[in-house]
Amino acid sequence: MANETARPPINVLIVDDETSQRNPLAAMVSSWGFVVETADDGQQALDKLGAFPANVIITDLMMPRMDGFELMKRLGADGNMPTAIVLTAFGNIETAIETIHDLGAFWFLEKPIQPNALRILLERAASQSALAEETERLQRQLSYQGVLVDMVGTSAPMQQVFSIVRQVAPSKAPVLIAGESGTGKELVARAIHHLSSRRGGPFVAINCAALPETLMESELFGHEKGAFTGALERRAGCFELAQHGTILLDELGEMPSGTQAKLLRVLEDSRVRRLGGKSEISVDVRVIASTNRNIEDALKNGDLREDLYYRLNVFEIALPALRSRMSDVPLLCETLITQLNHKHSCNVTHLHPEVLDAFMKHSWPGNVRELRNVLERAVIVAGAGVIQMAHLPYDFGVSSGTRTAPEFLEPESVRLPVGTTVSEAEKALIQLTLQHTKNNKTRAADILGISLKTLFNKLKEYGAEAASSAEAS
Ligand SMILES: Nc1ncnc2c1ncn2[C@@H]1O[C@H](COP(=O)(O)OP(=O)(O)OP(=O)(O)O)[C@@H](O)[C@H]1O
Ligand SMILES: [Mg+2]
Repeated sequence: MANETARPPINVLIVDDETSQRNPLAAMVSSWGFVVETADDGQQALDKLGAFPANVIITDLMMPRMDGFELMKRLGADGNMPTAIVLTAFGNIETAIETIHDLGAFWFLEKPIQPNALRILLERAASQSALAEETERLQRQLSYQGVLVDMVGTSAPMQQVFSIVRQVAPSKAPVLIAGESGTGKELVARAIHHLSSRRGGPFVAINCAALPETLMESELFGHEKGAFTGALERRAGCFELAQHGTILLDELGEMPSGTQAKLLRVLEDSRVRRLGGKSEISVDVRVIASTNRNIEDALKNGDLREDLYYRLNVFEIALPALRSRMSDVPLLCETLITQLNHKHSCNVTHLHPEVLDAFMKHSWPGNVRELRNVLERAVIVAGAGVIQMAHLPYDFGVSSGTRTAPEFLEPESVRLPVGTTVSEAEKALIQLTLQHTKNNKTRAADILGISLKTLFNKLKEYGAEAASSAEAS
């Protein structure tokens, strides 16, 4: 019986070493209107998949040469996992459950196969596959119009970023995202997660700069009760929390070197051991790392371990600064205004041409985050209608670049003219020290004699200040 509803052809690959099982199964599935191909074992299945893109794989587990486990592991690693139906012999339920857990296999069916049960599973698998294809098609169409998940950008460099994101998303390969602060590194990481088969799993982001070594390791790998002073309860780490999902290691260059070595081991073995723990836990997590540091510098001065870098940079995405893709500004404004209208219940329609002109002349050292902050203020002040120059900070666009740096900073010393306020002096000192430590915040906090947390609070304050007053500080 051919399928009655008009649906695109669904390719089914049947993998079984026993001809007496495989052939009747193929005949039955093909009589239901599916396009069927067969393979004797995992190796042949992999060979055939090149020419026969299967939507669904029905596979036996025990086979010579390459068994069903290995087949799915390979497909999973390539990110080309079609929907899979695993056939198991009676009594092998435990293995089957393990398969589903470890490999993300779709379903299992006990032998002898009940035709009705198989048909229901195939129909469901087919509709899931059709849905995934439709979503991908729409995403592709949208990205040509300058939208990819939550990112917008029609400029050539952003279109290039979109294209890499689309390519890397389906695989499990690690990704390293480099770019100045506010360029959208976290947004890219979320887009990769969203466009991967892990989208139903968790996305866990951890800021590697915010914590001292022991706490950082406990955050990443978890700890057992009593592992260190203050470890009152057993706690799962980010890797466990991100099981079957994606972890973003933000500001990787700031991670202590010892922790980087431990992280490398986790990446190599896909296993973590909680601090103070005896056994290891197997983790299936896709790792994305980001840094706003110059990677070459970080490698040269030892802030980023070379071995870890080579493990992580299977794909490297360099996010361009906003000033090098100014043609994106109008579309970004439109998108951000829509988001901000929604957030603040406002009804702003567009920018006055004079405002857009000022935006196009600005150098945006804080990148998209700065643009968003300037717009947020303007949307709130305007409330509705057109954003005018009067809705921007009073000296927006008057000067470009930071005022503090050239006035106060000389190599390795701070010059403080009379009239400098205490907070301006503090800011200048912090900036110079960060310059001296090549942005290593842990070292800068040490030199300044303040806690890392205080340093972060200060930097956050300066960031907000820069954006809300457009370098009036
Ligand atoms: N291409 C884009 N389209 C729309 N919004 C964007 C885009 N890029 C960045 N943004 C917005 O800009 C802000 C900053 O982005 P994000 O937090 O991803 O930057 P980041 O590079 O991780 O910054 P940092 O290094 O400071 O952590 C967010 O509000 C984000 O939504
Ligand atoms: Mg970030």
